Amino acid sequence: MEVVICKTREEASKLAANMITAAVKKNPKLVLGLATGSTPVLMYTEMANAVKAKKVSYRQVKSWNLDEYVGLAGTHDQSYRYFMNENLFKKIDIKLANTHVLNGLAEDVDKECRAYEAQIKKAGGIDIQVLGIGSDGHIAFNEPGTSLKSRTSCVYLTPSTIRDNARLFFKGKEKDVPTRALSMGVGTICEAKKCILLAFGKGKADAIKGCVEGPMSQFCTASALQAHNDCWIFCDEAAASKLKLKKYYAWRSATKLGI
Ligand code: PGA
Repeated sequence: MEVVICKTREEASKLAANMITAAVKKNPKLVLGLATGSTPVLMYTEMANAVKAKKVSYRQVKSWNLDEYVGLAGTHDQSYRYFMNENLFKKIDIKLANTHVLNGLAEDVDKECRAYEAQIKKAGGIDIQVLGIGSDGHIAFNEPGTSLKSRTSCVYLTPSTIRDNARLFFKGKEKDVPTRALSMGVGTICEAKKCILLAFGKGKADAIKGCVEGPMSQFCTASALQAHNDCWIFCDEAAASKLKLKKYYAWRSATKLGI
């Protein structure tokens, strides 16, 4: 696990975007795993800027998103499909038909989840998976108590995630946040060839501590990434503030990145 610690979230987002831009330039048919939430927005803006500047093209890239709320249509302004269209897909030259988000309205959710995994497999697997982290240490919607080998399935949100999501989205109304979601599993995520996790602010410090230095435990599902051999954590100083070896991580990752 490499932990890149930046002074600002802007700087961290730029470095993470540069890593993705370079990977797409090297392999124009890259398969991306994408995340929603407030955290990746700046990185998505940087990725769009690179397209605008003609540094890279996503015309042949395919993407699969981590999760979607059960009960929301893709046209709902709080759905993750809508979020992705607005925050990334409309701003880059990816073909909408090559972007995939789980269907929150699927009648047979198990079938939907199985089909999603099959699609990813058929595409050759995810090359780079983008991740945020919940304040309770979740990745995608894999809440505490989820098997570290879980596969894409219908999951149940914790009260703290519902609170976090209402604060940032749903106009602050907790009662409007769906209590269930379809989510890639921890095992599914860990099969990506490379993972890039972003975390900003002191509200993420405990989660990052658990992810990087905690025991590998289903209590903090992000800790499963400790067993991944190409995982990059891009965070600001506040999110990294509780790490015991933060100076060492910062020096090592900066050396590897040549920054
Ligand atoms: P956030 O959510 O980016 O809005 O903080 C992250 C997550 O819950 O994975």
